[in-house]
This record gives sequence, C-alpha cells and structure tokens, in this order.
Amino acid sequence: MGKRNKAVGSNAEVISNASPIIINGEMIGAVVVFQDITEVLRLTEELQRSTSVINGLRDEIIKLSEGRGRFDDIICESSKMKNIINLARKAAREDSTILITGESGTGKEIFANAIHAESPRAGKPFIKVNCAAIPENLLESELFGYEAGAFTGASKLKLGKFELASGGTIFLDEIGDMSPMLQAKLLRVIQEREIERIGGNKPIKIDVRIISATNRDLLALIGSGAFREDLYFRLNVININIPPLRERREDIPALTRVYIEHFNRKFQKNIKGVTEKAKDMLLSYDWPGNVRELMNILERTILMSQGEWITDDLLRPYFDQVKIKSSSRDAIMPLEEMEKDLIMRALKEFGSSVEGKRKAAEALKISLATLYNKIKKYGIR
Ligand SMILES: Nc1ncnc2c1ncn2[C@@H]1O[C@H](COP(=O)(O)OP(=O)(O)OP(=O)(O)O)[C@@H](O)[C@H]1O
Ligand SMILES: [Mg+2]
Repeated sequence: MGKRNKAVGSNAEVISNASPIIINGEMIGAVVVFQDITEVLRLTEELQRSTSVINGLRDEIIKLSEGRGRFDDIICESSKMKNIINLARKAAREDSTILITGESGTGKEIFANAIHAESPRAGKPFIKVNCAAIPENLLESELFGYEAGAFTGASKLKLGKFELASGGTIFLDEIGDMSPMLQAKLLRVIQEREIERIGGNKPIKIDVRIISATNRDLLALIGSGAFREDLYFRLNVININIPPLRERREDIPALTRVYIEHFNRKFQKNIKGVTEKAKDMLLSYDWPGNVRELMNILERTILMSQGEWITDDLLRPYFDQVKIKSSSRDAIMPLEEMEKDLIMRALKEFGSSVEGKRKAAEALKISLATLYNKIKKYGIR
C-alpha cells in the first residue's frame, strides 16, 4: 500500500510506493515511485460537492412530488370501492406495472398517488406526466430528456421524467392520448428497462415503477389502430378500474358530508348538511362528471348559500341546466351538433365497448370506421 504525502520541494500530493532492491540477500537500495494525485483529490472533492448538491435536489424533488393522496383520503362507503381499494393496496406493495381506468373525475389520480405512497418506493419521487397536455415533440424530451447540443436551443442537459423518477414511480396520465411514435418508444423503455436521452448515444438504466391512467377505452383505441396492443399488455399487468359514481351511489352521502366540512372550512361557512329533498336529488342524478362534478356543485352551492342547509332549491339551478342541455335536442340545431348528439345517445344506449360501438354503428347505419372517425372529430369520450 502506498503512503500519501507531499513531494519534497513541491505542493503536489503524491502517493509513494517504495520497494527495496535486494541482491544476494542484501538490500542495496530502493526504488520509490511517486504518483501525483493532486488532480485526483481535487476531482474527488468536487465530486463530493456535486453529489451533495444532487442529493439535496433529489430531496427537493421528493418533497415537491410528495403525493397529495393516500388510501385514507379516498372516501367510500360502497363495497365496490372498498374491494378496489383492497386490490390497489395489495398491488401497491408489489412492483408491478398498473393501469388505472375509469371515467373522468372518478379518482384515478388519487389512486395513483395512494399506490405510490403505500409502496416500498414511498419516499422516492412520484413524477406525473400528462401525456395529453403536451405536444408530441415536447413530450419526448419531457420523458427522456436531452443532451446539451442535441438540437438548436438545447444548451444544457435536461433530465427526463424517467430519470427524475429514479427509484420512484412515474405516473403516465392520459396514456390513451400518447402518439404512436412515443408509444413505440415507451414500449422499448419498458422492455429494455433503459432510456436514451435525445441526442445521447448510450442507454441509461432506469429503475422506475410505471403507473398509467386513462379515461379512454383503450380496447376501442386498439381496435381503431390508435393504440398499440403490445404496449397495452405491458401497461395493463394489473388493472384497477374505478366505477363511475352512478354505479356506487352509497358513496354520495359520504362524499357530500366530507366536502361540506371541507368547504365550510374554506369559505368559513356553517352548513349543517343537505335536506331530504336535496339528498334525493343528489342520489338520483347520473353524475357524468363523477366525484369532481359533485365536488364542484357542492363548492358552488356552499359558496352561494345563506342558510345552514343545502336545499333542493339551491341545487335545482344546476340540475335544470343539465336537463335543458339534454332536452334541447327538440330545438333546431346545427346538423353537426345533431349528429354528435345522436352518436352520444347511441353510445350511451349500447355502451362504449368495441361490441357496443359495433351495435351503435349498426343502429346509426354507418360503418364502424366512420363511427370512430366521428367520435374523434367530435371529441366524444
Ligand atoms: N373517493 C374519493 N374520495 C375523495 N375525493 C375524491 C374521490 N374520488 C375523486 N376525488 C376527488 O375528485 C377530484 C377528481 O379526482 P381525480 O383527479 O383523481 O380524477 P381522475 O379520474 O384523474 O379524472 P380525469 O380522468 O378527469 O383526470 C379530485 O379532486 C379528487 O381528490
Ligand atoms: Mg386525472
């Protein structure tokens, strides 16, 4: 082993290694090799400094991304939801890839947060990417990052969300809206467990759990060629399907109670609850916007209310509006709107599964491909 000291007559840190020269059993001298390690020591120090900066930043990422949502925050009374929470809790502990499906506003994001918070990866980053909100070329660099100089304007290295999520979970929201090009890249990432930064030339190993979510019918998207079947199977290792609120009406009173407390605090009100008639109204409504819609209606009525109880009179304006919208089909309207309305009614009647769409197309006397085109054109979900 060498000895670390300063070289005589200089400031350089050196390692010296001395070996004796022995001839005929007699030591006649020694060879000493000096190795200048000043630079190595400087770099080591610099590396330590950088590492501590990185660790500090990583802690910040974790703090910023700390899930707003645990299983305890999910309000439910229905056995349907309780079963799903049980399934999700079990799945959380494993490292398997999870696909969360369900209509808009059913709580997919809360579930994703809760799964991460109850997984062995809790305490590591939870990074959300909304695949629908970001244009394709930007989404690629969001996900995979780029090297400095990868393209004009790329002056600094940018880490992608997969690298930021290192050790933790990446949540790919609205996965059904991802472009085919990125679907192919994502598939490769899942298969190889490595990514490549844009403009980079070496793959980087990643250790990230993938949770994805969508309110779109992925099987129908596969049917119309908009979503890759092989990617679907990779993402859908465990499926958590959250039923719409109208299929678990027992949850409505519990949600109402908790949200009244919440908005009482927020607006400094003292609402005691809902009247019987108002409760009936809440229970019989169809809730196309699910929990988010219930929350919004309660927020508005509580903000506007003067008294202590939420009455049917306070709720009626909102539900009437919805009714007016759906009965306006009797009025004269642009043909396109009429077409959209008819398609939506057909889908409501037959369901939005592939089979349902086939029947809907039949009833409308158009081809299945035309139906898909029109669904896309009118943005029907
Ligand atoms: N069971 C629940 N208990 C408490 N809050 C809920 C529940 N379900 C949903 N929420 C709340 O409703 C709102 C919508 O939920 P979330 O954003 O998770 O829905 P989503 O399924 O991701 O909707 P989208 O498809 O539109 O993105 C959020 O504010 C969420 O906190
Ligand atoms: Mg969401």
